[in-house]
Amino acid sequence: MASDARAAEDGGAPPPRPVADGFLRFLIPAPKPRPAAPTTAPARLVPPHRLVAPPPAAPALLRPEERLHIVPPTRPDWLPPPPPRQPPAPPLRSPSPWVRPRPFPPAFGEPRTRNAGRFAGQVNGARGRSPASVAHSSGGGRSGSQKPKAAAAHKEKKAWVAVEKKGEDAGDDDRAAVSEGYSCGDETGTEAEDQLEPEGEQDTGGHRRGLDREDDAKNSLDMAANQECSGGGGERPSEQLVCQSNQATHSRGRMGRSQVECRPDIDTFTPGLLALYESLKPSEEHKSKQKQLVDSLAKSVSKEWPNAQLHLYGSCANSFGTSHSDVDVCLEMEIGTASTVEVLLRLADVLRADNFDNVEAITSARVPIVKMSDSGSGFSCDICINNLFAVANTKLLKDYAQIDQRLLQLAFLVKHWAKLRGVNETYRGTLSSYAYVLMCINFLQLREPKILPCLQAMEQTYTMNVDGTECAYFDEVHQLQYFGAENKESIAELLWAFFHFWAFHHDYRRDVISVRTGSTISKQEKNWTTRVGNDRHLMCIEDPFETGHDLGRVVDRQTIRILREEFERAAAVLQYNDDPCVALFEPYDYEN
Ligand code: CTP
Ligand code: MG
Repeated sequence: MASDARAAEDGGAPPPRPVADGFLRFLIPAPKPRPAAPTTAPARLVPPHRLVAPPPAAPALLRPEERLHIVPPTRPDWLPPPPPRQPPAPPLRSPSPWVRPRPFPPAFGEPRTRNAGRFAGQVNGARGRSPASVAHSSGGGRSGSQKPKAAAAHKEKKAWVAVEKKGEDAGDDDRAAVSEGYSCGDETGTEAEDQLEPEGEQDTGGHRRGLDREDDAKNSLDMAANQECSGGGGERPSEQLVCQSNQATHSRGRMGRSQVECRPDIDTFTPGLLALYESLKPSEEHKSKQKQLVDSLAKSVSKEWPNAQLHLYGSCANSFGTSHSDVDVCLEMEIGTASTVEVLLRLADVLRADNFDNVEAITSARVPIVKMSDSGSGFSCDICINNLFAVANTKLLKDYAQIDQRLLQLAFLVKHWAKLRGVNETYRGTLSSYAYVLMCINFLQLREPKILPCLQAMEQTYTMNVDGTECAYFDEVHQLQYFGAENKESIAELLWAFFHFWAFHHDYRRDVISVRTGSTISKQEKNWTTRVGNDRHLMCIEDPFETGHDLGRVVDRQTIRILREEFERAAAVLQYNDDPCVALFEPYDYEN
């Protein structure tokens, strides 16, 4: 009966029952015969991450006055006590998390959910395949013979080439900017829907309806795997990882899980990863073209606002910029009684008059901007007004980058991976580049021995006041050149550990990633335990200065699952694959 109530809450139709049914005596008065519920196809989860939504919900069948008379069912005391619940029967073998029931394709014409492009059809990469295939193939989720042409074409462009020009995604960027402001996106959820369920249930998320059989099968597989894990003792590391991955659907994020060691030959991949890192760094030519664009922008702006100061922020100034990063500019100026939006609209006119291309004011975003591009250089540029928090955090990131070169190496590889795997898209509910860099910093702050210090917890040698908030930290980073020297981990080891950490060790239900404290803090402490407006707080990343801003607020129940599965995939590829430097960066195949 609880499921009926839930179905009604969810807008679905509870199945009609005979009025004479003894268990329905709690309905007062007995409901009038209702029109037969239209048959709706049950929601189906086509693993992994492909929720095929049922057709739009039928209108509620109960009239409001009937609903008021529903009281919770109680078990009649004349019934004998219910038999204890039996655990699901254990399966024959321990599966791996990569072995999932074969997905069945969505029925033709079935409606798709938000992000459906991502979930629809077969996914590539390790999702839905066994560790063996992770270990021995460098390709996608299908065997070579099955792989369609489009996927094969994607594969050609893999890994060692940098991502395609950002300019090609200009439309998406607009959406990103808007989505950061949350003027679009899925806002229909309730606070309750946005809670992460207890660990054992969270993976089924809000899409549990209609999925029970499949989930039960998975749960029983997981249970058996757990039994094998706990019973065995003396497993080889790879077996431990498989066991851990199996447990992940039940107990991801639990701290204190036994440490898994990475493969002994992991360092053989360091030269390849470093070569990729070098190839991603912007060339001198790239930098000088960027400078030209900024100079011509400054010239245009100064005509209208002679006292405006132009600051570069984001990756073009914090040293995390790749050869495909955009140019982020902040104009610091007195705007008097005018609103930021009015100034931006005026700025857009000025830039159009000066023949900049594709000038567009995006005023509904959290941080309103003017976007434009330069057809000569192909750069795109975002301009905001008086967003000095961004200027402050740009300096903070730049200073962290100077302490240990492994931060830049790690962040470049992670950003590259995130772009290629389609998880660097805030308008789709995944994370910004800035959020990934903060995760890299926090991860290196948490290594043992530590690779990065917590600059905001040290003596304050730099202070910038932004709207009454002190952005202060220790910026004499030349004194910290050897801070991480005791830690000898290579970039290959760190990259594996990074993905393993976010896949298995971080407690998403409880913790907030906090570079400000060099640690994690609890959601409770931040009061980020429930959804507030558009801030879902499922995955929490505290902005180091604007501490009320959660950079993970865009993450929803589907995308937190996508993110965690991508972290798992990446860790498994690095652990098992013969050629991980290729497979890791294989572009996510949206088409199949
Ligand atoms: N920023 C911010 N708060 C956010 C998102 C971004 O303050 N919620 C600021 C940060 O200063 C960040 C900059 O905007 O460095 C640009 O953000 P983003 O585009 O995510 O990162 P980039 O480092 O510029 O990455 P990319 O190379 O992908 O352009
Ligand atoms: Mg940028």
